[in-house]
Amino acid sequence: MTWDTVDLEWSGDIATVTVDRPEALNALNVETIEAMGEAIAEARTEEARVLVVRGAGDDAFIAGADIKYMKDLSTPEGQAWGELGHSVANALERFPAPTIAVVDGYAFGGGCEMAMACDIRVGSESALIGNTEIDLGIIPGWGGTQRLPRLVGEETAKRMIYLGQRLDAETAREEGLLGEVVPDDEIDDRVAELAAELAEKPAFALQAAKDAIAQGYSDIGGLDYEKRTFGGLFGTPDQREGMDAFVENREPDFE
Ligand code: CAA
Repeated sequence: MTWDTVDLEWSGDIATVTVDRPEALNALNVETIEAMGEAIAEARTEEARVLVVRGAGDDAFIAGADIKYMKDLSTPEGQAWGELGHSVANALERFPAPTIAVVDGYAFGGGCEMAMACDIRVGSESALIGNTEIDLGIIPGWGGTQRLPRLVGEETAKRMIYLGQRLDAETAREEGLLGEVVPDDEIDDRVAELAAELAEKPAFALQAAKDAIAQGYSDIGGLDYEKRTFGGLFGTPDQREGMDAFVENREPDFE
């Protein structure tokens, strides 16, 4: 299958899904996130030994969910949008082989959430990452309220989410949000090396390790609660103000 804003490429058994919407810093609109889900499904069907997820260009991994699309959504539409993002994040989390997010550039909001749904996050030195949704009058809606505290601990996650922190790569590594940080011009080689090493490991044992680790985190309730709460914020005055302010390139003035 081919898509306008997503590419699926192979290097042997290693599949790479690239979000390719550079004019919007790879922000995810409906078409792009649906394509991303289809590309991940195809990589699964074709039995990839490793799945790499990246953004096109050097500026962004994924700058988040598409704010221009989201800004006028109603509550039911916001809920459907949450469902869609969750389904793709879950497809990454449950992918039967190791997944690597290449965090080269911006990874905000839904971009940070897609990275967190991967097993391994490699960042470039100039990357900026965070769950920044609060300044749009919403909350992380694609799993961030559940996955961020697991990675960085509860209080740190609360600070990051409440303050909408945009972390530089080194801080993100220190906090546990990025597993490693490499110079910008070395990130592709490092990811290729890591993917090749993983592709040589025994696939069934890797999958068993991944499944066993996932069992310890199988809190479906929290993810469902997040989905409902996220959708419920669409149509509130703060959501409208937060997203209008982004589109109008000004600071929000919340009620
Ligand atoms: N949605 C839609 N468009 C976006 C976008 C997004 N998330 N992020 C960037 N863009 C667009 C900009 O509007 C701009 O488009 P135009 O040229 O048509 O104006 C283009 O990408 C380039 O962006 P900037 O001019 O803003 O570039 P910059 O280098 O000055 O800033 C940035 C880059 C810091 C990433 C800034 O664009 C930004 O803050 N973006 C929003 C990040 C964000 O808040 N993401 C979270 C979204 S909410 C979410 O994801 C909800 C969820 O949980 C599912």
